[in-house]
Amino acid sequence: MLTEDEKHLIEHVWEKVLEHQEDFGAEALERLFTVYPSTKTYFPHFDLHHDSAQIRAHGKKVLSALGEAVNHIDDIPAALSKLSDLHAQTLRVDPVNFKLLSLCVVVVVGRNNPSVLTPEVHVSLDKFLSAVSTALTAKYR
Ligand code: HEM
Repeated sequence: MLTEDEKHLIEHVWEKVLEHQEDFGAEALERLFTVYPSTKTYFPHFDLHHDSAQIRAHGKKVLSALGEAVNHIDDIPAALSKLSDLHAQTLRVDPVNFKLLSLCVVVVVGRNNPSVLTPEVHVSLDKFLSAVSTALTAKYR
């Protein structure tokens, strides 16, 4: 559970992320595919070359979904309900991959805003991304 202070930290960090959703999303995905190549198996239909239009467009979608979760931080499962159906019932992404993407998102935020990623922000982001991952994997059966 995020504390009230942690929620405020996330909202503050996200103001910086919002200006760069497409760049940050694309960087997070490129890191995911490079550092954890098995994740590429879910994207056989994508052009995975550096800075491809598909990676940029998808990165933007992922980051805006995270933005929705920030906007509804007190009820993330409801905010991401449709995405949860998609990932659980249609895509069937192995839940382990959510942790990997979350790690990449933290790296991207920190790399682009080094002074922002204090230990307190780091732990808040970890908890937030864990809550998002739990919401997106809650409907697996
Ligand atoms: C699609 C968000 C994690 C694989 C999507 C879409 C969004 C999204 C917004 C587009 C849905 C639409 O077009 O209606 C997220 C978020 C994640 C996450 C917020 C966690 C923070 C993952 C992971 C994988 C994955 C870990 C696999 C490694 C996919 C695939 C698609 C998709 C294969 C369909 C892409 C396409 O064909 O256009 N996701 N996702 N997602 N996601 Fe995720």
